[in-house]
Amino acid sequence: MKNDILKILVTEEELKEKVNALGEQISRDYKGKNLLMVSVLKGSVVFMADLMRAVTIPAKIDFMAVSSYGSGTKTSGVVKIIKDLDLDLHGYDVLIVEDILDSGMTLQYITELLKARGTKSIKIATLLDKPSRRKAPIKADYFCFDIPDEFVVGYGLDYDEAYRNFPAVGVLKPEVYTK
Ligand code: IMP
Ligand code: MG
Repeated sequence: MKNDILKILVTEEELKEKVNALGEQISRDYKGKNLLMVSVLKGSVVFMADLMRAVTIPAKIDFMAVSSYGSGTKTSGVVKIIKDLDLDLHGYDVLIVEDILDSGMTLQYITELLKARGTKSIKIATLLDKPSRRKAPIKADYFCFDIPDEFVVGYGLDYDEAYRNFPAVGVLKPEVYTK
């Protein structure tokens, strides 16, 4: 696995430090609120697992899975719900936990959908942000790292479902895509 990585963009140490700091900030901002962390599967599971343990106030969690139609490394903007949330969202201060904010099409769709279900508030926490690629008018309320327009894998992010268990965020060697 390691041999397919061209370079590391964010190290394990940097991830740990930033995610812990974000957990502290969320704990301050959501004190006295009804926090529900919603992880968007599968890419955000590693971030979610670390972030929720860095949150020191009471928090509930739920999961949803969506797929954006389109192949390879580009999203089409058409989103399909694969697995919906278990909880009724009324009265919750929902924090959507995402792996990466790219075009923003996925998060725009999810945010509108969940808002319509009676949430008290809704915000977005993303591990990575690629602002140069934005198409939808979506901004992350919280993010850990701004990254350039490169396709990244690891710490939950995949290429063709692989590399999610790589512990840092890296860029693949070009020959991996042409295999
Ligand atoms: P968006 O709808 O274009 O913002 O795409 C968001 C989704 O596309 C993410 O949740 C990822 O699953 C996927 N994605 C976007 N960029 C990357 C990347 O660099 N590596 C891996 N997955 C990515
Ligand atoms: Mg993905």
